[in-house]
Amino acid sequence: MIIETAQRTRQTSEYYFSVKLAEVRKLVAEGHDVINLGIGNPDMMPSEQTLTALSEAALKPQAHGYQPYVGTVSFRNAIAEYYQRTYGVTLNPSSEILPLIGSKEGITHISLTFLDPGDEVLVPELGYPAYRAVSQMVGAAVKEYPLQEESGWQPNWEVMEELVTPRTKIMWLNYPHMPTGAPATEELFEAAVAFAKKHKVLLCHDNPYSLVLNKKEPISLLSVTGAKDVAIELNSMSKSHNMAGWRLGWLAGAKPYIDAVLTIKSNVDSGMFWALQEAAVAALGNSQEWHDDRNAVYQGRLEASEAFLNAVGCTWDKKQEGMFLWGKLPDSVESAEKLVNNLLTEKHVFIAPGFIFGPKGQRYIRLSLCMPKERIWEAVERLKS
Ligand SMILES: Cc1ncc(COP(=O)(O)O)c(C=O)c1O
Repeated sequence: MIIETAQRTRQTSEYYFSVKLAEVRKLVAEGHDVINLGIGNPDMMPSEQTLTALSEAALKPQAHGYQPYVGTVSFRNAIAEYYQRTYGVTLNPSSEILPLIGSKEGITHISLTFLDPGDEVLVPELGYPAYRAVSQMVGAAVKEYPLQEESGWQPNWEVMEELVTPRTKIMWLNYPHMPTGAPATEELFEAAVAFAKKHKVLLCHDNPYSLVLNKKEPISLLSVTGAKDVAIELNSMSKSHNMAGWRLGWLAGAKPYIDAVLTIKSNVDSGMFWALQEAAVAALGNSQEWHDDRNAVYQGRLEASEAFLNAVGCTWDKKQEGMFLWGKLPDSVESAEKLVNNLLTEKHVFIAPGFIFGPKGQRYIRLSLCMPKERIWEAVERLKS
């Protein structure tokens, strides 16, 4: 390459899945039947009313122009109603909601909005890789905070007191937690808000899994009294509504935070396709029965995935929520990387190694439930053969 790239391209390496899925595609192109239990890409359909709304809206002449930077009024109203119904949280639809092209892009907008070079960001030592990557991209210093396996993969607040400094600007939090499946609890959220208030840190909660195999009523961090002073929440339709490829999510929080993020975002992208937003309104109205049916399918897959973990000799926590199963490798397995590579090349089964979510994940693997249970059972058979 003749032209040198910016420093930040050297701080971040290509996303693991971007590299690995190219390998998977190559095997498939060679005619191999690869069972992909790696990525959390819902394979089930959005609801029928969602698809009908999309096709009807797409036929309207007014559908195809630019849309408001803050999303349509009807989409924001639907999100506000959904937050009230699902979490008991009241949001002002005209000032406390910012639709996003998926929550992943929100991580970048938030980081660009609040972080200066040298600011510090508290990132869970195991978590969605974008928190760390984007913080580094904008020149912030990443401080990993430990998660205690023995207490449900939660932060240790005494350790947090040691990690926080006057330069700490953001703390990332995500419960139900990916990849460990640790559930959200009110106590955890209350402790996090108290910590953020004490240290004037922006608490950024990422909440895409609260409706997937949740064992209790779903909760939002914004339901904690006073949370809006210091906390914002990302949410997404990717997993909860089977709409990952549609790129629909939002940021919820107090007006000053939303306005600040909009200053950045409105210079980066534009409002999403009107028909998508109309369809999102229909999806947000999905019945409880629709969500229950989706979870029943995941439950069946969970049983097959547990058999898979058993076949590897893993142990795992039964309290997990969300769309994955997180298993601890037995001592007999030398390394997750070797296991993943061997399974891919010899058995044509792809699973995610735990280390891609942080160094603490070295001795773990993550199975996605986004495959028909028959295919997961087939993977179990291949493993045993
Ligand atoms: C914890 C977490 N946050 C955010 C995302 C991104 O979701 P979206 O599709 O809304 O960008 C994912 C996707 O896997 C995730 O696991």
